[in-house]
Amino acid sequence: MSASNLQIDSKGHLRHFLSISGLSRQLITEILDTAESFAGVTEQTVKKVPLLRGKTIVNLFFEASTRTRTTFELAAKRLSADVLNINLTQSSTTKGETLLDTLRNLEAMHVDMFVVRHADSGAAHFIARSVAPHISVINAGDGRHSHPTQAMLDIFTIRRVKGPDFGRLRVAIVGDILHSRVARSQIHALNLLNTGEVRIVAPRTLIPTHAEELGAHIYHDLRTGIKDADVIIMLRLQRERMQGALLPSEHEYYELFGLTEEKLAVAAPDVTVMHPGPINRGVEMDSEVADGPRSVILEQVTHGIAVRMAVMSMAMRRKEGATQ
Ligand code: NCD
Repeated sequence: MSASNLQIDSKGHLRHFLSISGLSRQLITEILDTAESFAGVTEQTVKKVPLLRGKTIVNLFFEASTRTRTTFELAAKRLSADVLNINLTQSSTTKGETLLDTLRNLEAMHVDMFVVRHADSGAAHFIARSVAPHISVINAGDGRHSHPTQAMLDIFTIRRVKGPDFGRLRVAIVGDILHSRVARSQIHALNLLNTGEVRIVAPRTLIPTHAEELGAHIYHDLRTGIKDADVIIMLRLQRERMQGALLPSEHEYYELFGLTEEKLAVAAPDVTVMHPGPINRGVEMDSEVADGPRSVILEQVTHGIAVRMAVMSMAMRRKEGATQ
């Protein structure tokens, strides 16, 4: 079954959230609008809404994460769900129990949703195909493949800063595109919203083969790639995924591709600078830029809560009306 069929039910509602590809512009916009309604909740003194009261959500993180795991947990708690965090480095999977056995045991505890992060591309799709029909699976990042809630929170942040007309925007994504699940999901989402121009900017060794098929213009020079850009999204050098020497040195990378105030001068005067985190300061960007007035890096983190609330509540809402 294709990802699109797997994540959307016969009525066109969200069943799982696995990747941006296969989703419609309408659904993406519905997620953004729903997140907008939750953004107010996270700013109130009483931050909870009762939408997922009585539901149990399990964070299954097979790979390290700080921002993503904690914002998923906060989002679930603000929807009044019960949340379990399972540290999979200490679980029975290390005692020889298979992933499917672990899933079956959790299903037997009547959980309603799995939030999954895994180092293997396709892991969340595999779990979505294996779970009981009432369970929803949300992909919190699989290998180099997809990180759809990160892309949605980035798009949400751009929409809040620049307004809803993506057609007039030039967006440059800079850095380690080759290993980035975030870049793939962002490019899909930006193209779905008919963004004026999507650029990827990186050394040749950090661009995937057939990159033009992703739907972006390719640049190998930072200043040309960010010229007149309205939004610049910097990506981390994902050393843990690099095999062999893809780069001469971090210092040389910083000289050529590191974002500084001086290089930023060629971008649009009101350029917005983003980064999904964690940042390697002094490698992909200077602290002056990361902490400067054009940076919305911490807003991205805040918006992650509202966007994750939106995705989780939409996947659960489908089930309230569904016949199983
Ligand atoms: C990203 C990820 O894990 O893919 N980070 C995140 O989710 N906040 C990007 C990265 O690790 O560089």
